[in-house]
Amino acid sequence: GKVCLAYSGGLDTSVILAWLIEEGYEVIAFMANIGQEEDFEAAEKKALAIGATKYVLVDVRKEFVEDVLFPAIQVNAIYENVYLLGTSLARPVISKAQIDVAEKEGCFAVSHGCTGKGNDQVRFELSFYALKPDVKVIAPWRDPEFFKRFAGRKDLLDYAAAKGIPVTQTKSKPWSTDENMAHISFEAGILEDPDCTPPKDMWKLTVDPSDAPETPEDFKVIFNKGKPVELILNDGTSVTDPVELFLTANAIARRNGVGRIDIVENRFIGIKSRGCYETPGLTLLRSTHIDLEGLTLDREVRAIRDTFVTPSYSKLLYNGMYFTPECEYVRSMIQPSQNTVNGVVRARCYKGSLSILGRSSSTEKLYDATESSMDELTGFEPQEATGFIAVQAIRIKKYGEKAREDGKA
Ligand code: ARG
Ligand code: SIN
Repeated sequence: GKVCLAYSGGLDTSVILAWLIEEGYEVIAFMANIGQEEDFEAAEKKALAIGATKYVLVDVRKEFVEDVLFPAIQVNAIYENVYLLGTSLARPVISKAQIDVAEKEGCFAVSHGCTGKGNDQVRFELSFYALKPDVKVIAPWRDPEFFKRFAGRKDLLDYAAAKGIPVTQTKSKPWSTDENMAHISFEAGILEDPDCTPPKDMWKLTVDPSDAPETPEDFKVIFNKGKPVELILNDGTSVTDPVELFLTANAIARRNGVGRIDIVENRFIGIKSRGCYETPGLTLLRSTHIDLEGLTLDREVRAIRDTFVTPSYSKLLYNGMYFTPECEYVRSMIQPSQNTVNGVVRARCYKGSLSILGRSSSTEKLYDATESSMDELTGFEPQEATGFIAVQAIRIKKYGEKAREDGKA
């Protein structure tokens, strides 16, 4: 039968490809272009040389930005207060493209190179089962026949040599990475010591903040219903196409050292794991979006969204539950919260920091400078605040009385 393998061009999935063929399968090597830096032509050559029946590359960048990254910006998605979910966000889009290829090519099974300890195996497989419930999943790193035979990197290299698989001699880095348009992750190897400061040359997308330009870089982001619709650079250049806009946000943040993250996070499986991430453009767009919500979003809509929608959606994404009824439900609550989030945010990147310079909205009237002013008595009657405080104080006075009785105050 035919198997559709998520192929990366690296050592692991090259060995998996050869092993699947040895096991008697016909293999379609699938790759997604999700904005990672990659030599796709070299990967195709390699897959075919190893013996793949066919190599299929699918460009999912537009779908990734419009269907996944923009909603994540609208809901300010974040995991454990720090991680912007770069890998988690990509998995549903990649899984969907892989299942489409598997269906088109008549594959009965799909395969991947995820380890048996991580989040990604869960994310891929739950997505596969939602999109093609009868699919068979071949996860070599959980198959004793495979992992006993390839117990260490040396076994993989020996097998590659025996099978004539070219191993690209990039000096192997002491960590593993995963990259897409939103971020790059660094995990494992020397980073497994949570107290090990990453070496300066590990970081790839962003310049070191201390080496970033001495001149601040200012820009404007225009949002419509919570979605970034235009990015204006300091030279007046304007970008509106979603993919171009996201890439431009990446470029500004990258050259100014914005978007580095270092976290010890809790994997869904229950294991703690240390990860370093660079999320340049998403950091820029999310932070400016949060700022505009201050000006344009109703207080209680925001409170309910922050309490229920943002944490639920973020956790569902992290745990690989994108294609589930609960995620469909939570996702449907994002757009209605954003109808008033219209306006312009002016911001500045400078040596690793992002600061807000100002914001305005021509359509939203929630903020009233006269009403808010400390110098003006117009807006509402000051005596009304006396009543407001008196009513609020009813139960607080009772608390105070009791505290005094108990000798606590
Ligand atoms: N810890 C992050 C997450 O679970 C990053 C995972 C990176 N995945 C990888 N295959 N290297 O989302
Ligand atoms: C892996 O285990 O394949 C990568 C890390 C993760 O998925 O959490």
